Amino acid sequence: MDMVFGRGRPLRGEVTVPPDKSISHRAAILGSLAWGRTTAAPFLHAGDCLSTLGCLRVLGVEVHLEGEELIVEGRGPEGWKEPRSDLQAGNSATTMRLLAGALAGRPFRARIDGDSSLRRRPMRRIVDPLRRMGARITAEGEDERPPLVIEGGSLRGIEHRMEVDSAQVKSALLLAGLQAEGETRILGGRSSRDHTERMLLLMGADLTFSGDGALVVKKSDLRGCRIEIPGDMSSASFLLAAAAAVPGSRLFIRGVGLNPTRAGFLSVLNSMGALVVESGYRETSNEPRGDLEVAGASLTGVEVEAWRVPALIDEIPLLAVLGCRARGETVVRGAQELRFKESDRIAAVCLELRKMGAAIEELPDGFRVEGPVALRGARLDSHGDHRIAMALAVAALFAEGETVISGWECVSISFPGFERLLRDLTR
Ligand code: S3P
Repeated sequence: MDMVFGRGRPLRGEVTVPPDKSISHRAAILGSLAWGRTTAAPFLHAGDCLSTLGCLRVLGVEVHLEGEELIVEGRGPEGWKEPRSDLQAGNSATTMRLLAGALAGRPFRARIDGDSSLRRRPMRRIVDPLRRMGARITAEGEDERPPLVIEGGSLRGIEHRMEVDSAQVKSALLLAGLQAEGETRILGGRSSRDHTERMLLLMGADLTFSGDGALVVKKSDLRGCRIEIPGDMSSASFLLAAAAAVPGSRLFIRGVGLNPTRAGFLSVLNSMGALVVESGYRETSNEPRGDLEVAGASLTGVEVEAWRVPALIDEIPLLAVLGCRARGETVVRGAQELRFKESDRIAAVCLELRKMGAAIEELPDGFRVEGPVALRGARLDSHGDHRIAMALAVAALFAEGETVISGWECVSISFPGFERLLRDLTR
């Protein structure tokens, strides 16, 4: 489906954004492994999280939505039953990797598949350590790619140092570790998002942290609980970027998750000269949240070093867009992981922004943009990637003329209603 955007007026108004996608996945999965009822609200009613619910149902878990509330009747890991059909993770690597970790400890065979984008994503990073823990896993795709066939059973704890600091890998190993004999120690995962750890603590897991970024899990029982889900910082970031880039904008976003492992984009926006003010800070369900106000500003280029990348991993395509608007050079390094997301996000954003006249150079692990440049509307492609599609829509707001983005339907993976909201705010 094509979507057309023109130059936008300054963004004005007060909005909320969809519930956090990462926390929604975890509420469903961890709730299904716990004992008793877990309720989570508001739950993200979007493609990726619906894939998770579909997989859990195939595993025999009683899970349903009442309005915007998710209700999971947990019966512990033993409540998961051998599936009679494949689990379909759709576009969602979080679904596939987290479920694979939990399935490694279940004494049956399960096959988990995904769409063409997910079939291209690397799984060796979970398959290798889960095999070391004792699971039998066959990756049917080339070079350990999906579909995955998992024959789980009794697991033993291991010590594993992650090569890439990935929340999905860390979470998969934690969910396997919960079912393993002895201790599972995961090293090198302290900068990536920690929603799994926070929710496990809320549910009573025996989880400890030590220097050097180590996590230790012992076999423990989880208790179902009530989870309040904040707005998704990654979804909010598209609106924050749009407001920051269009002078005269003033936007207020209520109830956004401010977990420090997710909020790196705010500090980069501030370094670029945008005025982002946080207020109403509070904690619910072991997760910080607050309100954000941003005003349009004239932006300056910024250099983002590798250590900052995990806390803004999904927002990096937006920095390429903002770089076109900012005075001077914007450089991102150490973000090679972006090449393994729903699309190769480095290649995709550079290719599409160049069609609009951007001065952007692709680097192996990031990009260099020179600004400001007067972008022109163009025919663009989403690459089937929700975050690329929305980042390009933000660029269209300050481009001359009309921009057509093909493959727009992928936006429903994380932010149904984005286009309407953006139009309302820029009308
Ligand atoms: C996610 C973790 C990140 C992120 C993805 C969601 C999660 O991926 O990019 O959108 O919910 O755990 P990695 O863990 O692979 O870095």
